[in-house]
Amino acid sequence: MQHIIEELEKRRAQAKLGGGEKRIANQHAKGKLTARERVDLLLDENSFEEFDMFVEHRAHEFGMADQKIPGDGVVTGWGTINGRVVYVFSKDFTVFGGSLSGAHAAKIVKVQQMAAKAGAPIIGLFDAGGARIQEGVESLAGYADIFMENVLSSGVIPQISVIMGPCAGGDVYSPAMTDFIFMVKDTSYMYVTGPDVVKTVTNESVTHEDLGGARVHAGKSGVADGAFENDLEALVQVRRLVDFLPGSNREKPPARESYDNIDRQEPSLDTLVPANPNKPYDMKELILKVVDEADFFEISSDFAKNIICGFARIDGESVGVVANQPQVLAGVLDIDASRKAARFVRFCDAFNIPLLTLVDVPGFMPGTKQEYGGLIKHGAKLLFAYAEATVPKVTLITRKAYGGAYDVMSSKHLRGDFNYAWPTAEIAVMGAKGAVEIIFRADAKDPAKLKEREDAYKARFANPFVAASMGYIDDVIMPHGTRRRVARAFKSLKNKQLTNPWKKHDNIPL
Ligand code: HXC
Repeated sequence: MQHIIEELEKRRAQAKLGGGEKRIANQHAKGKLTARERVDLLLDENSFEEFDMFVEHRAHEFGMADQKIPGDGVVTGWGTINGRVVYVFSKDFTVFGGSLSGAHAAKIVKVQQMAAKAGAPIIGLFDAGGARIQEGVESLAGYADIFMENVLSSGVIPQISVIMGPCAGGDVYSPAMTDFIFMVKDTSYMYVTGPDVVKTVTNESVTHEDLGGARVHAGKSGVADGAFENDLEALVQVRRLVDFLPGSNREKPPARESYDNIDRQEPSLDTLVPANPNKPYDMKELILKVVDEADFFEISSDFAKNIICGFARIDGESVGVVANQPQVLAGVLDIDASRKAARFVRFCDAFNIPLLTLVDVPGFMPGTKQEYGGLIKHGAKLLFAYAEATVPKVTLITRKAYGGAYDVMSSKHLRGDFNYAWPTAEIAVMGAKGAVEIIFRADAKDPAKLKEREDAYKARFANPFVAASMGYIDDVIMPHGTRRRVARAFKSLKNKQLTNPWKKHDNIPL
């Protein structure tokens, strides 16, 4: 018996070494952790149980028959994050650059299917050079199998991808179909084809960083939902995110005991909105003062900063917060903001996470750049997402709610459950100046007259009471009491039931 145990220990030790000490040292020299070190940091201590440690590839060509490494470049299994089950796969760059063989793909598909069955989130840690070049079509087939599982699990279990090294080809398409992508600054890259191929095909010279670094994807393309300083920070933040999410669409998100009194008043909110309607203020201040313990996990904080999306808790329950940010482009809705928020709203709706929407929006961004870029379709995504969402929806208008953007931002008309406004709210087709310039064009040459018209328009519409008189606003609330009113609204909606008509699926304007 002893020799059998020793054999097992020997095999385990060999598998744990992956591509060997030299390559592990290289990995560390680049500031990256190994696949196993990452899993250990992501999961609760001693909770990881590994599958398929002894799986090997089946390739023979290009000398591969003699190069077998147990595990074949990916560490898979399950464990817990703060006691809740998650499934995980972690690509091992020290083994054939983490590239994907048929056997490697089958290991990932196995944990994807187990996560879906168990109703637990799946987290993929990527550090990989795409298809295993020596395997050809078997590798492509493996990717397609993974993509298929990504799609079947979409909206069923949360899928999270963390990009922790150079990732190309299939190792970017699979993350692209998951719910959240996070990157590590300076050591991770995502591109369909790397700089060498770019040079050959387009003659463009570009660095890895400028083509697909964390700053590019978290700030410019919006492909990534966040960028972190190093592996450790990324893994710690993923643990934090998982705490807000349910295991699957079959559950409600986890509730936690809250030590933050829901009756907490915030007198400073009474002066948050400046007297001058053209002056910005920081909407994040409102978020942090309303949610439990000022704990807010922001998604895509560097992309489309004119809208804020993220997770928080109110009275211990997870909520998704969507808020216009008057500090950036006056909080206007443009293509990027609409795309970012639409995807976030759909995620929350798919996973039973109630939505808190904070509105201060001057409308949609005008101009050829936006129109040529398809603002109509992108803006419609957000409208569509809010309209189809059946989770509890609580909306607060703090200041401007102009035009179509008023409708879009979880208005009563899109089945908003509780629609509140602060006394400073202005609900109108547009700002007073623009409005009178259109409807009183004849007075254009008479500034005094125009000013008089503007004041009259303001007096009529620059308040929440017209909308409140029609029942579109349920109540005009005092800013200092916002937390209490919002918390009570969500409490009353705990057992909300609402279903959309049967359909195979909708046809959101993609
Ligand atoms: C087999 C690979 C590999 C691959 C890297 N390696 N990529 N082995 N298949 N795709 C191996 C290398 O031979 C090397 O082995 C080790 O991994 C480390 O690679 P390096 O090149 O030394 O590392 P680095 O300089 O850091 O560059 C990393 C890299 C580069 C940027 C990822 O290796 C690279 O460009 N690889 C190819 C990327 C690619 O074009 N993949 C195919 C995409 S197409 P040794 O033994 O020396 O340690 C695709 C199709 C699916 O994925 C599409 C589905 C839609």
